Parts: sequence; C-alpha cells; structure tokens
Amino acid sequence: MKTLIKNGTVITAEMTRKADLLVEDETIRRIDGNIDDPEAKIVDASGLLVLPGGVDPHVHLELPMFGTISADDHYTGGKAAAFGGTTTMIDFVSQEPVSLAENIARHRAMADPKASIDYSFHMNISRFDEQVAEELPDLPRMGVTSLKVFTAYNGRLRLDDGSIFKVMRIGGKNNLLTMVHAENGDVIDILVAEALAAGKTAPIHHARTRPAWGEVEASLRAAALAAQADSPLYLVHMNVAGEVDQLAYARKHAIPAMGETCPHYLFFTEEDLKRPDGAKWICSPPMRKPADQHRLWQGLEDGTIQVLATDHCPFFYNGRKPIIYEGREVAIPGKELGGENFTLIPNGLPGIADRLPVFWTHAVNTGRISPNRFVELTATNPARIFGLYPKKGTLAVGSDADIALWEPEKELDYGLAWAHHRTDYNLYEGWKLRGYPVKVFLRGKLIVDGQEWLGKAGGGRFVHRQAGEIL
Ligand code: URP
Ligand code: ZN
Ligand code: ZN
Repeated sequence: MKTLIKNGTVITAEMTRKADLLVEDETIRRIDGNIDDPEAKIVDASGLLVLPGGVDPHVHLELPMFGTISADDHYTGGKAAAFGGTTTMIDFVSQEPVSLAENIARHRAMADPKASIDYSFHMNISRFDEQVAEELPDLPRMGVTSLKVFTAYNGRLRLDDGSIFKVMRIGGKNNLLTMVHAENGDVIDILVAEALAAGKTAPIHHARTRPAWGEVEASLRAAALAAQADSPLYLVHMNVAGEVDQLAYARKHAIPAMGETCPHYLFFTEEDLKRPDGAKWICSPPMRKPADQHRLWQGLEDGTIQVLATDHCPFFYNGRKPIIYEGREVAIPGKELGGENFTLIPNGLPGIADRLPVFWTHAVNTGRISPNRFVELTATNPARIFGLYPKKGTLAVGSDADIALWEPEKELDYGLAWAHHRTDYNLYEGWKLRGYPVKVFLRGKLIVDGQEWLGKAGGGRFVHRQAGEIL
C-alpha cells in the first residue's frame, strides 16, 4: 500500500522544506519535490506541516500506586497520545520480586494486546543484589536499554547510593542508560512526618515537604555517581532551577549527562496546589516557582535540557463518579483516595495528549522555540537518547512512517474532550491553543483523522531498542 503526502512543509530537527513524502507500507520511501506515483493514495497536505510523530519517553500506564492504578493503559494512553500527535511512548516496568526477564515478559503480556501505538520499556531498579547485577547485562537483548533508579520513596523504590553506583557501573559497561529520579528521600520523610504531626495535610504541603534543594543536591549526587561509575546519566522530570544548573555543571565537566522536563512544570506553580482542587496538581516532584520555570525555559532554549517528556501518570480527580469512555461507564479510584491528606493522594498527572499542542502554542507561536527545535525536543532527541533513531523520531527515507500532519492555524478551546485521556480532568481545561495535528499515521496507517479514531488495540508494537546516543 502506498500513500503520497503532497504539498506539505516537512519539518525535522535539521530542516524545513516544502516536499512530498511517499510512504510504502510501513516505511518512508521518498521525500522530494513533486513526487508522482499513480499507485499511491494521495493525501493533500497543502497548508499543513509534516512532522515526525512525537516520541514520549516517560509514561506510566496501569501503574499501581496507593491502592489504585494509573487510569490509562496501553490502549487508552496510546489513543490519547495519538490524538496529540505522539506515536511512540516508553513506559516503565516496576521491579517485582521475580527476575528482570520475567518482569519484562509480564509487562509485554499486559501491553502487547492493548498497544495502540508503538512502545518500549525502561526497567525500574528498586532492589539491587547479586542476581540483579548478573541479569542487567542481558536487558539490551530484550530491547530494553535504559534503567530508572530513585533517590526518594524510602522503603519502596529508593536505592542507596552504593547500589546506584553499582547499577550505573554495570550500565556504563553494557549500553544501559541510567535515569535518575532525584529527590532527597530522607529529608522528605522527616518533613512529611512533621507536617502530619502538625495537622498540615492540604495539597500545598506536598510541595513544602519535598524541598527544591533536595533535588539540586540529588541531581549533583547523581551526576557525581555517574562520573565515578563511567556511566551516562539522564535526569527525569527536572523542575527546579538549581537542577538545571547542576546538569549544566555536569555537562561542562564532560560528564555524559542529559535531562528532560515536562510541560506541567513550565505552566504551573505550587500556587496551583492551593486551589480547592489542588489534588489535581499533585505529582512528584511537585510544581515549583516562577523562577524555576524561567530556568527550565532557558534550559530548553539553550540546549542544557534535551527532551520534553510528560511523566504521564493520570488518576481520576473523583474516581467515584464514572465518565463515559468509548460508550461505557468507567470509574477508577483516584485522587479522592487521599481526601485532604496529601500523603494518600496518588502522585501523577495526565499529559501525553497535551504535550505537543500546548507546547507548540506557548513555545513555537511565541517565538521562543523554532519548529525544528520543537521536533528535536519532542521526537528526535528522545529517539536518539533512547535508541529508537532513525526508525523513530524523524522523517527520513527508511524511517517508520510515523507522521503527524499539523495544522498550525487550527484554533481550539482545549480540554478533556480534545485530550482523550481516560480520566475526568485536564490541567489545560479552557486553554486557547493554536496548532494541532489533523491526521496522524502510525507506520503508514492512518490512526487519527480529525477527531475520528481509526486505531485499535494491538495496532501498536513493542520496539526493540538499541543503545542510545549521548547528546
Ligand atoms: O508523580 C509522579 N511523577 N508519578 C509517577 C512516578 C514517577 O516518579 O515518575
Ligand atoms: Zn520519577
Ligand atoms: Zn515518572
């Protein structure tokens, strides 16, 4: 089957060019001026931008937390992603007390039948011993080339510094990139206990008990451990100015360190946690201050930060009240579980559908970020860092035909109905956006046409990743 996308403006990280794009089956075959192919179905992209499908390297689907589960799975999360122009996502495998291979196999069994876009996995390492040390070098054979470790969530996910060092050392020798969730778990535990004892349970105390300095210190610690372990490092969900400074410091000292931020940290502050519905903004690490936002934008603009991801981990605001999803009532326990006690409110936010349209409106339309840098931050760099490139993350001959046809002048009042997340709220409800995908292709197949969903469970595939690049 051939599709010819004609008269569009092709945008990649490197170039902007008026060109036609010929897709044969799942692959891009030609990009050129005035292609003709009588066998091809023509898609007229006049007035549209032709972008590579977005790559979101940080999502949590069906993640068990605080007695519930994140509300999107590989079908619903992939569908929402596709409506927002993203065609590949990387989810995390929690480390249950079985072998790493078994953990990955179980997650594949859960995700494969549901996947509606292409996907891959990172492996969480929240327990480290001799057996895990022996198993880690085998992960690339399973297509998993990145790990996540935590310096917070004591007693649950946190690894001690020595174990993080050992994980990184094995990773450095075996083409595994270590991603670090950098907060200070000890300080958080003390502050949380003190807050609860003082009856300070409102959502704002979530931010106040997770100080920004803990992230500054933990991100420098992560960079120093990576340097000593001869390992690359990727800092996840950066949200603090000092953390960006530490990343810049590490890079200046030739440590192979990279990092991401997420849209919610660019657009919301801890003031949002003070709203009556502040629970909607509870995630870890928390929202910060305007000065932090300023430094994050600067980091995106000057290249210190390489990736804009989402940390998509949606929960219902009121999981007692069903929503209608694909014609059926769905209710999944969510933020209401915490009541007014911030320590019991599931941590996480919806965002996978919002990332590209919200960022386009506020980064590209404002002139802060060029369309090429937009593609680089949201598709090309994540694909390169996580070993998906050039199959994913760009428009090139031989690449997968993952394509978003983007209407730059399309205006919308954004919110829940546009996002298609399987939850009952959207952080950007009522925001006026300009620029939106109008057709989305996954490996040559049209899966989103306007507001029509043409994708299906099982239409997405696990992508076996290679070793990534250090940018
Ligand atoms: O609040 C968040 N971010 N939930 C997901 C887990 C994590 O640490 O990324
Ligand atoms: Zn994290
Ligand atoms: Zn996360």
